[in-house]
Parts: sequence; C-alpha cells; structure tokens
Amino acid sequence: MSEVTTCPYSKTNPYPAKLLVRARANAPESQKETVHLEIDLGNSGLVYKSGDSLGVFPRNAEKLVDAVLKAYKFSGDEDVTLPKATESIKLRAALTTELSLGAITKKFVQFVHDNAACDCDKAKLAEVLGNADPVAQKAWIDNRHVVDLGEEFPSVSVSAQAFVEQLRKLAPRLYSISSSPRFVGNDKVHLTVAVVRYETNGRARDGVCSTFLGEYAPLGEAALPVFVANSHFAPPADLNAPMIMVGPGTGIAPFRSFVQDRAAQGAKGKNWLFFGDQRVKTDFLYQKEWEDALASGLLTRLDCAWSRDQEYKIYVQDKIREAGAEVWKWLNEDGGYFFICGDAKRMAKDVEAALLDIFQQHGGLSPEDAAAKLKTLKAEGRYQKDVY
Ligand SMILES: Cc1cc2nc3c(=O)[nH]c(=O)nc-3n(C[C@H](O)[C@H](O)[C@H](O)COP(=O)(O)OP(=O)(O)OC[C@H]3O[C@@H](n4cnc5c(N)ncnc54)[C@H](O)[C@@H]3O)c2cc1C
Ligand SMILES: NC(=O)c1ccc[n+]([C@@H]2O[C@H](COP(=O)([O-])OP(=O)(O)OC[C@H]3O[C@@H](n4cnc5c(N)ncnc54)[C@H](OP(=O)(O)O)[C@@H]3O)[C@@H](O)[C@H]2O)c1
Repeated sequence: MSEVTTCPYSKTNPYPAKLLVRARANAPESQKETVHLEIDLGNSGLVYKSGDSLGVFPRNAEKLVDAVLKAYKFSGDEDVTLPKATESIKLRAALTTELSLGAITKKFVQFVHDNAACDCDKAKLAEVLGNADPVAQKAWIDNRHVVDLGEEFPSVSVSAQAFVEQLRKLAPRLYSISSSPRFVGNDKVHLTVAVVRYETNGRARDGVCSTFLGEYAPLGEAALPVFVANSHFAPPADLNAPMIMVGPGTGIAPFRSFVQDRAAQGAKGKNWLFFGDQRVKTDFLYQKEWEDALASGLLTRLDCAWSRDQEYKIYVQDKIREAGAEVWKWLNEDGGYFFICGDAKRMAKDVEAALLDIFQQHGGLSPEDAAAKLKTLKAEGRYQKDVY
C-alpha cells in the first residue's frame, strides 16, 4: 500500500523556506531592477507544477517601521493584541510582520482627525474629509501612506492598541514560479521579481514584498514564509502541441518554467516566445538560457520587442502583428496554445486586441467570428492568461 503524505503547509500555515540565491537579472546600468531568486523548500512536502505561483509573506522594512513608530510617538515596546489573537505581542513585531503600513483609507483619516490634539490639524483633516470633490479627496488619500499622516499631523495622539486596530493585515503576495520542478527538483523554486519603487507625496516608496525579496530578506536562513498557490495556468498536457508564449518583463517567469518543463519531458511540441523589455543590452532577462534553447532547437522561435532602444515604442504586440500569418497558422492549423503573462492593465489587453486583428486579417474572420474564435480557444484551454 502506498503511503499518503499530506503537506502541513498552506497559506494559513506558511513554510519557513530558505532563500538561497538573489541575483540581479538586469545589467547594472539598467533602469529596471529585476531579481532572480532561488528558494529551498527543503523537506516541507510542498508540491508545485509548472504555471503555479508562490505566495510570500513579506516583512515591512525596519526603516519604515522606525519611521512609523517615531511619527506616532511610540517606542515599539508597547504590548498590543491583534484581532482574533489570544496573546499580546510587542508593537514593533506587529508593525513588522503583521500589519500593512502602506495605503490608507478614509476611515484612517477620520481616526487621525478624531485623535488630533491641535485645532489646526483637526481643521485641515476636516477639510479633506468634507471635500465635496470625490476625485480630489481620493487623490489626497491615495497619495499618502500610514507614516505620512503621523508626520503631517504631529498632534495626533493614540494608544498603541487603538492604532493597530486601524491597520489592515499585511497580505502575502503571489509570484509566478519561474522554474519547473521536473528541471530543478521538487524542493527548489525560482522567482523573477521586479522591485517596485515609486514616489508619492514627495516621498520615495518601496513595494513591500518586492523590496523584501529583492533587498533584505535574509539569505541562507529558514525565514521566508511561503506557500504554493495552484493555478489552472499550465503548459499543454499534449507534449506535441505547439505553444506561443507572450511574456514581457516579469511576464517571462512562467514561460521559463514551461520551457524547462518541456525540456525535462523531451517534449516535441514547437515553442515560440515573445519577450519584451526596455533595452536589449540591459534587460534581456535570461538571455543566455534563451539563446541556448534556440541553438538546441528547444525554442523554435524568439521575437523580442525592445521598447526604449529607438525613439518610438516597440511592444510585443507589434512583433505579434508582424508575425501574424505564422501566429494564425500555429493556432488555426497546428492546434497551438497561446499564453500571456505580465501586466494586466495595458499589455494583456493590447495583446488580445492584436490577436483579434490577426484572426480577421489572416483568417478572414469578421470581428464577431474573431471574438467567437477566441472564446472557443479559451474554452479549449488554448488561450490562457496569468496577468496582474
Ligand atoms: C498571479 C500573480 C503572479 C504574479 N507574478 C509576479 C512575478 O512573477 N513577478 C513580479 O515581479 N510580480 C508578480 N506579481 C505581482 C506581485 O504579486 C506584487 O503585486 C508586486 O511584487 C508588488 O508587490 P509589493 O509588495 O512589492 O508592492 P506593494 O507594496 O503592494 O505596492 C504596490 C502598489 O503600489 C502602488 N504603486 C506602484 N507603483 C506606483 C506608482 N508608480 N505610482 C503610484 N503608486 C504606485 C500601487 O497601488 C500598487 O498596487 C504577480 C501577481 C499575481 C497576482
Ligand atoms: N501588481 C503590481 O503592482 C504590478 C504588476 C506588474 C507590473 N508592475 C510595475 O511594473 C514594473 C516592472 O514590471 P515588469 O518588469 O513586469 O515590466 P513592465 O513594466 O510590464 O515592462 C515590460 C515591457 O513592457 C513594455 N510595455 C509597457 N506598456 C506596454 C503595453 N501596453 N503593451 C506591451 N508592452 C508594454 C514596457 O515598455 P515601456 O516601459 O518602455 O513602456 C517594457 O518594455 C514594476 O516595477 C511595477 O512598477 C506592478
């Protein structure tokens, strides 16, 4: 009788994995900051497959926790009890691993207003809360994080317990796994993470989890809380089926896994990758691997769109349109699969629009029939998106 083992680790009980490798994936002079990570799942029993994501629970950066403590006049040594918890913990620990110090809500602005000791702070906050223009009010709130309100309205005076009750839980983030367990082993996971940095309200902001992974998560310690998030996004079960993969930027992640998976299985299906990023010299993620895959025939075709190597933008959908006749053939005659991963807001929509144009231009379909064709591909699992 075979022994059935169940893994005790999940989103509610994450596994403390070991971060083994953190390497910059862009050249040093790049404007992008993408990191390649290798993580050891040890004997956790966690199982993943090509197309799955890894959930990561981040920690807030120490410098941000310090700034929040200072802004609200706490030492960090205060005892607080979080919602649903039975035991108290120190405020510093709660702000580091349990609570979000990022975006605020109108309710939080109201809380600071209600606890501001000075009339001038109260008046300014009352003005924000009473703003009849909802767009301007939202913009004011969206521009600020938890730390900003404590700094801008220094008369606010609250207990540590009341403060933590206003903060949201620090949520885990998902990352498409960029390795195949068949290729790197069941106990290893690779990720490809773009470190998020931006500025609002005149202050530099760091994306919580991408900076944690890209900068300060300790290496070599069993200290990275993770779980596997299974996905329907997966390479074709039919190893002979052709696949077209569109993955600009970090959208490349699952396709590195797909191609590794096919290599490990000796799959004969054709593999076509569309990649795009800012500049060929600095942002060609996993360049050597793709060149080797092309040379060995594992990758049938590679089309790259470098958006900032010329005065006008070239995006993956431009390359897809240029190769429209061949794309149509792979999908219509050869039974191919079409995958998109990466930015949901613009890229995925623009790529879908390009595909619909190709169905019309090269397949001679009407706009309605092109939409129906895409719907059929979706229903057959031959048009899949993993976008964020
Ligand atoms: C299924 C799935 C797979 C994913 N795979 C990957 C992957 O492989 N690689 C990867 O890098 N990411 C991936 N992501 C995205 C990832 O989960 C995180 O959302 C990303 O790393 C940002 O998280 P963060 O904690 O660093 O940033 P946060 O602290 O959460 O900050 C991000 C937020 O900051 C704000 N923001 C960001 N930029 C600006 C700006 N310029 N101006 C104003 N506000 C801004 C926005 O509100 C944004 O939502 C994936 C997401 C999903 C859902
Ligand atoms: N959930 C999130 O918070 C989230 C998710 C995804 C991305 N991002 C943001 O994106 C940054 C990097 O992400 P990334 O490395 O995955 O790459 P990316 O920013 O999506 O860029 C990759 C390539 O796609 C190009 N591009 C821009 N608009 C496009 C469009 N409409 N169609 C096709 N291609 C388009 C970019 O060109 P240009 O830049 O030259 O225009 C670049 O060459 C992160 O640091 C973060 O700020 C955030």
